[in-house]
Amino acid sequence: MAFVNPYIAKIQWHSHIIEWTKEIASHKWKWNEYFGNNNPLRLEIWTGLWNFFSWEVPLHPDKNFIWMEIKFKRCFVSAEKTLEKWGKNFVVVKEYGQKIEDFIADGELEQTYIFFPDPWGKKDRQKKHRIMQKDFLDMLYRKTQSWWKLVFKTDHREYFDDTLELLKTMDNWKQSYISFDYQNESTEFDKNRLTEFEVIFHEKNICYLELIKDEQ
Ligand SMILES: C[S@@+](CC[C@H](N)C(=O)[O-])C[C@H]1O[C@@H](n2cnc3c(N)ncnc32)[C@H](O)[C@@H]1O
Repeated sequence: MAFVNPYIAKIQWHSHIIEWTKEIASHKWKWNEYFGNNNPLRLEIWTGLWNFFSWEVPLHPDKNFIWMEIKFKRCFVSAEKTLEKWGKNFVVVKEYGQKIEDFIADGELEQTYIFFPDPWGKKDRQKKHRIMQKDFLDMLYRKTQSWWKLVFKTDHREYFDDTLELLKTMDNWKQSYISFDYQNESTEFDKNRLTEFEVIFHEKNICYLELIKDEQ
């Protein structure tokens, strides 16, 4: 008998998970109506299992959060973890992060987090799958409100260096914070709020970058 992923059914009627349908576009520029308040919108792509964000949501009841993840089980476990901590101001969108154009309007985002995205292989045909690409960063710039940020973390030094090289060729995002050894250099580093991948890789140097939409 063919294996049917039990999480497909579990997320279908979940009040905090939206599966990709054309209707999602109807929320564009109307996420405030969806959340029933005028709080700023934050986005996380490559969510994984939500150790970090299940804390982040209840800590910031004055923000609305959208998380994007492609695996059924991770969407479900993450949503449940957050609800257990009484976080309600969030929705998981089960879809590829590259698709934000379809449901987030220009200037609708306050802040985006991209933590430990897959670095892919060294070959050009593999690297083209990375999320930190010019077109994507340009799009995210448009979606972000002035003076707000994109936060990127990775343990993969080559991916980080390639991203910095790419940013040199772009004239929109400005670097507001950079570290090649975040957990040892930063006073803001909080070892109690690590993502699942950070827990695995914390022995390695974690590279950290904050980009700001500075339109001066
Ligand atoms: C390396 S894990 C990192 C998870 C988490 N951010 C952390 O730091 O623990 C990457 C996660 O991104 C998800 N993912 C991969 N490609 C994606 C995409 N294009 N859009 C959204 N999520 C994606 C995978 O299913 C996986 O859960």
